[in-house]
Amino acid sequence: MIQILENFPLKNLNTFGVEAQARWFAEVNTPEDLQQLFTSDIWKNHKRFVLGGGSNVLFTQDFDGLIVKVNIRGIEYREEGDAIYVTAGAGEVWNDLVTFCVGRGFAGLENLSLIPGSVGASPVQNIGAYGVEVKDVLYSCSAFSTDTAQIRQFSNADCRFAYRDSVFKSELKNKFIITQVTFKLSKIPHLKLEYGAIRQELANRGISNPTIKDISDVVSQIRVNKLPDPSTIGNAGSFFKNPIIPVDKFRHLQSAFPDIVHFSVDTHHEKISAGWMIEKLGWKGRFIGPAGTWKNQALVLVNSGNATGIAIYELSDAIIADVEKHFDITLEREVNIL
Ligand code: FAD
Ligand code: EPU
Repeated sequence: MIQILENFPLKNLNTFGVEAQARWFAEVNTPEDLQQLFTSDIWKNHKRFVLGGGSNVLFTQDFDGLIVKVNIRGIEYREEGDAIYVTAGAGEVWNDLVTFCVGRGFAGLENLSLIPGSVGASPVQNIGAYGVEVKDVLYSCSAFSTDTAQIRQFSNADCRFAYRDSVFKSELKNKFIITQVTFKLSKIPHLKLEYGAIRQELANRGISNPTIKDISDVVSQIRVNKLPDPSTIGNAGSFFKNPIIPVDKFRHLQSAFPDIVHFSVDTHHEKISAGWMIEKLGWKGRFIGPAGTWKNQALVLVNSGNATGIAIYELSDAIIADVEKHFDITLEREVNIL
């Protein structure tokens, strides 16, 4: 019988480490638990929020509804020629899956090493790092409809992936709980070494013919150097998305700020480094009380002690206003605000 707990503390379930309470809280270990929960009055009569590892949420207040923590486990795979189809429960820890695959020589996830959170959340914002996004490796996922209690299959195309976006964040927001994800990996690695400091770090280690394990190791090293560890300093990774703007607007901006950091998206759009803009305005490593930005990465807001969710949110408001004033760009939050 599934247990629904009342007034449940969430401080240890969000990587910002802010204080908040859920009015109701239930942990689901199987899709059948979801079926059971679906029939409860608390499910029917309250708003709900699905929680994975809590590494992309900011609680600004207590949650006056039901938090459903997904803990569905299991990793299986099947081989088909050079392809490997790996299916993982939504509650598996993302980096455990990466380690499982890298350790067996299944290529495709290595650039996504050490991203916090759960497998089930990975399609929601189409997690990405170091030149790879989940959209490049996801084959399909299964999800529980919060309207019908049926499990529906989503193909990669059904997920409508875009930069830090998917159908689960837009049209179908709060409509599905992802229960399982299948990735199509390969026994033959197609290494992606172009992004960021990967080549440099390989050179530092004297590696000229890297394996996927080498890539996983160097990506992990780069991340450890740059990003704060949530177990010691609260954060949720990049707080804002990197804005994508029309190329005309970009040229205008570049004439005023020749050193602006940018990446080409397509012939009509450029992606601007939000971290660069925030740093340029003097916010990097700056704190207002215990809420601040990380000394090595201005895009990451941190809780250095007992910051409230509201204080972190207010800091993000101040940064948005400053960036708007100086660059005429409105930053969009990547983190889910509750
Ligand atoms: P949660 O924070 O619990 O939830 C995030 C969203 O997904 C919520 O809307 C939630 O409702 C929804 N959700 C969660 N599980 C399910 C489910 N089973 N079904 C339906 N919806 C669900 N992200 C990147 O993309 N790239 C990075 O490089 C990166 N680096 C990070 C570094 C640090 C130090 C931290 C703290 C975060 C970083 N992130 C990064 C953000 C975060 O790791 C990802 O967004 C991750 O996918 C969140 O997983 P989670 O399980 O913690 O999700
Ligand atoms: N930069 C600065 N100052 C900063 C931060 C960045 O000038 O404080 C400039 C530098 O020139 C740097 C460049 O921006 O070389 C890119 O920085 P970085 O490689 O750290 O990447 P990012 O664009 O800031 C994005 C993702 C990260 C992901 C990295 C690596 C978003 C919103 N963030 O950050 O994802 O790990 O690329 O691929 O797209 C996350 O989503 O939580 C996250 C951490």
